[in-house]
Amino acid sequence: MKKSLVKTGNKEYNLIREHSEGVGVIMEEWLPDGWRSKPAVHMPVYDDENDVRRVESRLRSYPPLVFAEESLRLKKSLGDVCEGRAFLLQGGDCAESFAEFGATNIRDMFRILLQMAVVLMFGASRPVVKVGRMAGQFAKPRSSPFETINGVTLPSYKGDNINGIEFTSEARAPQPERMLQAYHHASATLNLLRAFSQGGFADLNKVQEWNLGFVAHSLQGEQYKRFAERISETLSFMAACGISAETVPVVRETPFYTSHEALLLPFEEALTRVDSSTGDWYDCSAHMLWIGERTRDPDGAHVEFARGISNPVAVKVGPNIQTDDLLRLCDVLNPLNEAGRLTLITRMGRKNVAEKLPPLIRAVEKAGYRVVWSCDPMHGNTQVASNGYKTRDFKAILEEVQTFFAVHQAEGTYAGGLHFELTGQDVTECVGGSQAVTEENLGRCYKTLCDPRLNANQSLELAFCVAEMLKKAAKPIF
Ligand code: PEP
Ligand code: CO
Repeated sequence: MKKSLVKTGNKEYNLIREHSEGVGVIMEEWLPDGWRSKPAVHMPVYDDENDVRRVESRLRSYPPLVFAEESLRLKKSLGDVCEGRAFLLQGGDCAESFAEFGATNIRDMFRILLQMAVVLMFGASRPVVKVGRMAGQFAKPRSSPFETINGVTLPSYKGDNINGIEFTSEARAPQPERMLQAYHHASATLNLLRAFSQGGFADLNKVQEWNLGFVAHSLQGEQYKRFAERISETLSFMAACGISAETVPVVRETPFYTSHEALLLPFEEALTRVDSSTGDWYDCSAHMLWIGERTRDPDGAHVEFARGISNPVAVKVGPNIQTDDLLRLCDVLNPLNEAGRLTLITRMGRKNVAEKLPPLIRAVEKAGYRVVWSCDPMHGNTQVASNGYKTRDFKAILEEVQTFFAVHQAEGTYAGGLHFELTGQDVTECVGGSQAVTEENLGRCYKTLCDPRLNANQSLELAFCVAEMLKKAAKPIF
């Protein structure tokens, strides 16, 4: 692939690129509001555009939620993932909720992600890049724009950033002020996450204390306890060698990043700022942003927005993608072919992955694009239980992950990450796992606002399985 970078007068970067096939493409100048001239799907229609303008201008005056340098550091870590030297763990709620917002939920989510990360890190001897679906995952694309209950039809719930979940016409009307609330919820969540990740909670010496109350007494809790004992033993040995929380900060604290779907573009645009040290644009609502399966049209508004921000970005890739579209997405979203800039999150479904993934990998490899391959085993495996609950089967989730690893091994590529919908709570939303949540007891604690999440036990169980897969699949790095 031939590339050249051109800088012109008042324009941003103008990049002239050529595909290996010789098709020339010129990247046009980019501005944060450029998406407005493109088709934008899954976006709310507000009653009063003036209210929206007012909210946008308030948001523009607010401080950024994250710092460009942090996004850049994440991009570098994802570059390590791209090159097979680290593993990406991304997870959190399908939709965060204003109502469920609170310290306990944030702590439990952070803690289960830490537990999973440590299982992967210690089990597979590999650094784990931790990215929460947290502190901003407030906007949802929906398969149907309307919902009908008992003959009454109202707009679907689209996430707390857009409308309310209560089934009333007032709640379901999109309200621009919700964007301000989302900002403040994200800001407070981030504040606590920063405190947890740097203030001592994530100290590896506390690995035993991360075992949650209800998890501690489960099979996974027991397994984790034995695991944590081995880690503690290793830490004592390291301390004896002079490597301890006092001498080496990474023992005491951990980088933890945030991400969400960049769906609600007025919100994302308002938080997009120029980094004064580089002159590059960053969407400062999160460290990493992704484009969903339903909004990844290469000519659409969401891709237009994402191509100009310098954060690491990801795209969800479902079973119906055309290879040409995937290549165009790689081209448009990562014209410099930077390792770590683009993550492809495949979400094929257990039944499709063996057939659909290999041709995509081959096409991307042949074109020479450097991407992180991550697997979302949740969104292709949603089903409706006989009692009407939307659920996912632990077995199907595990099988998609296993096949993802097997396909990458066969293709000689690196299975670099996983993307989960999960919670640190003891919910009953996905069936299966060694604790065997059954269809009959889904109603016991079904709390999700949108898609079913793995509970803490199921998440930990999966992490132990993945650690084994990763250990077998990946070349040792230490
Ligand atoms: C999601 O991640 O919540 C989501 C809607 O996923 P997808 O775009 O893959 O359907
Ligand atoms: Co979801």
